[in-house]
Amino acid sequence: MAAAAAPRRRARADFVLAWLGLCLSTAWAVDRSNFKTCDQSSFCKRQRSVQPGSSPYRALLDTLELGPDALTVHLVNEVTKAVLLLELQGLQGNMTRIRIDELKPLRARYRVPDVLVADPPTARLSISGRDENSVELTVAEGPYKIILTGRPFRLDLLENRSLVLSVNARGLMVFEHQRLPRNSFSDKVSLTFGSIWDKIKNLFSREGTKEPAEGDGTPEEEAAGKADKPEENSEKDDDEPGAWEEMFKTHSDSKPFGPTSVGLDFSLPGMEHVYGIPEHADSLRLKVTEGGEPYRLYNLDVFQYELYNPMALYGSVPVLLAHNVHRDLGIFWLNAAETWVDISSNTAGKTLFGKMLDYLQGGGETPQTDVRWMSESGIIDVFLLLGPTASDVFRQYTSLTGTQALPPLFSLGYHQSRWNYRDEADVIDVDQGFDNHDLPCDVIWLDIEHADGKRYFTWDSSRFPQPLAMLGHLAGKRRKLVAIVDPHIKVDSGYRVHEELRSLGLYVKTRDGSDYEGWCWPGSVGYPDFTNVKMRDWWANMFNFDKYEGSASNLYVWNDMNEPSVFNGPEVTMLKDARHHGGWEHRDVHNIYGLYVHMATAQGLIQRSGGVERPFVLSRAFFAGSQRFGAVWTGDNTAEWDHLKITIPMCLSLGLVGISFCGADVGGFFKNPDPELLLRWYQMGAYQPFYRAHSHMDTGRREPWLLPPEYLGPVRDALRQRYALLPFWYTLFYRAHRDGHPVMRPLWVQYPKDVTTFSQDDQFMLGDSLLVHPVAEPGARGVQVYLPGQGEVWYDVQSYQKHHGPQTLYLPVTLSSIPVFQRGGTIIPRWERVRRSSDCMKDDPITLYVAISPQGTAEGELYLDDGHTFNYQTQNEYLLRKFTFSGNTLTSSSADPRGHLETPIWIERVVILGAGKPASVLLRSEGLPESVLTFQHSAETSVLTLRKPGVRVSADWSIHLR
Ligand code: NOJ
Repeated sequence: MAAAAAPRRRARADFVLAWLGLCLSTAWAVDRSNFKTCDQSSFCKRQRSVQPGSSPYRALLDTLELGPDALTVHLVNEVTKAVLLLELQGLQGNMTRIRIDELKPLRARYRVPDVLVADPPTARLSISGRDENSVELTVAEGPYKIILTGRPFRLDLLENRSLVLSVNARGLMVFEHQRLPRNSFSDKVSLTFGSIWDKIKNLFSREGTKEPAEGDGTPEEEAAGKADKPEENSEKDDDEPGAWEEMFKTHSDSKPFGPTSVGLDFSLPGMEHVYGIPEHADSLRLKVTEGGEPYRLYNLDVFQYELYNPMALYGSVPVLLAHNVHRDLGIFWLNAAETWVDISSNTAGKTLFGKMLDYLQGGGETPQTDVRWMSESGIIDVFLLLGPTASDVFRQYTSLTGTQALPPLFSLGYHQSRWNYRDEADVIDVDQGFDNHDLPCDVIWLDIEHADGKRYFTWDSSRFPQPLAMLGHLAGKRRKLVAIVDPHIKVDSGYRVHEELRSLGLYVKTRDGSDYEGWCWPGSVGYPDFTNVKMRDWWANMFNFDKYEGSASNLYVWNDMNEPSVFNGPEVTMLKDARHHGGWEHRDVHNIYGLYVHMATAQGLIQRSGGVERPFVLSRAFFAGSQRFGAVWTGDNTAEWDHLKITIPMCLSLGLVGISFCGADVGGFFKNPDPELLLRWYQMGAYQPFYRAHSHMDTGRREPWLLPPEYLGPVRDALRQRYALLPFWYTLFYRAHRDGHPVMRPLWVQYPKDVTTFSQDDQFMLGDSLLVHPVAEPGARGVQVYLPGQGEVWYDVQSYQKHHGPQTLYLPVTLSSIPVFQRGGTIIPRWERVRRSSDCMKDDPITLYVAISPQGTAEGELYLDDGHTFNYQTQNEYLLRKFTFSGNTLTSSSADPRGHLETPIWIERVVILGAGKPASVLLRSEGLPESVLTFQHSAETSVLTLRKPGVRVSADWSIHLR
């Protein structure tokens, strides 16, 4: 008893100190000393100490084997003699996969399961040329050739003889093969237990080595770290501090398996602009990291995060995109361990003038970006997504990891949250506040205080005695509730969730096999091992209505703290030597843990409805593939103007790597925004995918009606604009779901040849139709908007004024302005009868906004379904309509004949921007006599409004301007 209590007391003391540290810190900035720099992360330091030069790795071309799905070849490190196995695959759709593992690992290395949606279909490789040091490979059906060079090892991908990408060209590959610690065990035991060594050797022989099985590979954990193999221990790095045990502050990482990191470099000739690898609070375009810190990918709960630096945040997606005027490509580094990414460029620091001078002097190197990935464990598993366009890269990446889940319609509406709404009466008041002030709202949120002592899946009975009645009240208003369910479980023998998890052995374990305990909101907590499918199934079952008492079908879920956050752990997270199912260390799975929590919760919400209803789950941590499970947000931001601005690059970066459903706490989580900042945040949030106001418990209440009237009006307008555009949002999400296209996009995706757009992250596009330039400065009287596109026209959606691109436009703004432009050539559907919630609007008639291009054309689409079930998938119950304007005729036709939907929705108005005045307007619709439509034309704005076409949205029809 006493022995068990001591570590707990120590943990509590650590926690109290950490908590005091947090509370006493007066400066509004992250305490950087809580988080490692590359130098403090021993593997990053070791990897980074390797300088560009000749690689010690050689591909043994005589071991090359070409199978139907892959080529394999041995790589030898000529210094250590360690042998690796390289597996190279051509994949269908212009992708290449490279895997490198140890040929005979002492212990299977972690291969990330559950991220790929399927085994990617391969494209046959054939040998098309060969000399003594290289082999040329051709990929079937692809324009690419791959050259494999033996000494030093290198891969070059060429398209039509020009080099697109090289692997290990800088010779930075480092693969720390597993070995046994020097002077540890054998010196002491060899005399006594000489025969043990033979046994261990047998265990580690090829036959004895477990093949890593995706999903549940079981490493030979017992052996490693307890034996020695002297001839393998001559390497210098064995002796480096941190290689076999690492300290950070008071935390020790026991590293029983020694150094296991992997690293590889990729050279991208012709590339100067790279993006992606979220999550960082930094600019959209990634910066060169030489001489500074690499970008870090390690899911962390960072208190008061700082802007414009490469520190890790709550989620990680190890995908980088490169873009130039000719092409796009992507690198997907599938590894769930702590990862650092270094970026260097031969043009970094050169001014445009300097580059021009180089060019004029006939010299100057071709610009090139080099990217170096370094991960603490696992294997090298990398997908080269060869584009060539950005939309190809989106399609390629989402063909591997899945597309954005189609959100239920309500979740695209407005969400009202704070930490915390006090009790049921408070919730009902807030709900009523929206109605009293004529503000639409779909969801009210409950944070951790709603549960009984932070025992998730329960309710505090004094403050929430009748949750079902409260949910029923909201359902009557056609609104929803989201309740938080965090993935740490209070250690409390009276708490059923804890008791079951403990007795089922489903908690993460310490390296010694006992349940791992850390500190989080409830005090001492256990961490369910979500990497175990049994755990996920158990968790999913917890959302059944009979298990989660007081829940109902309009209750949805928020998963927070799933990095996982451990207040008394190293860097506020879990010890790396904690053990997961299958014997894997937390080190191996850290970055995927949060995805598994999200996955299990989404599964639970689907299951509770018998597979009928689409889930909505918000998660703070994420990884590659998280888009399949719901939404994410950018965590604990601050009520400051710079935090408002950073939401744009943060969500754009996520969209580029598949996660479209992104948002930031409107108003800022920490501190109190002044009315102007809060208003500008409402206006910006209205045009970002996930729209939720949220704030810390120490902040003042800030429901919109608490604002002075001159601010409340514009907030109402912003909310109404959001709701009016719901059919457009829903259609964009359908596209993201079907084709992997980001909903919120950087301008360069739409204008790939316009270099002005390549670094822009103060404005963005929604689909290919709307350009948004939020007002993000206090006291702004105007904004400079860049309107791209030679020969493009843009219509201001407030004034309908037409502007020509490309130009930088100074647009005067007032408090009620949100500069938004509709691109000429697009058609946008809107619901203009804004009501209490999206559910009240879902059968409302549609207004089409047709913005005519200089060529007199426009097109757009509309996706509709029931808004909440999977029937669109299982029964084809949906509509995808295509609208085309050309030759003064607007036509509506089906864009997907498989879909069908019984719907009362009709077209109530058509607004044509940039139109002359017609003599008459005729409507033709299937099965109806031709009719004449009444219209109104404004000569001043060139806006033609056609009243009441009255046609069904599902019908084919055409409108003719004569
Ligand atoms: C941290 C989350 O980021 C924040 O949104 C939430 O309010 C608190 N945890 C309390 O649950």
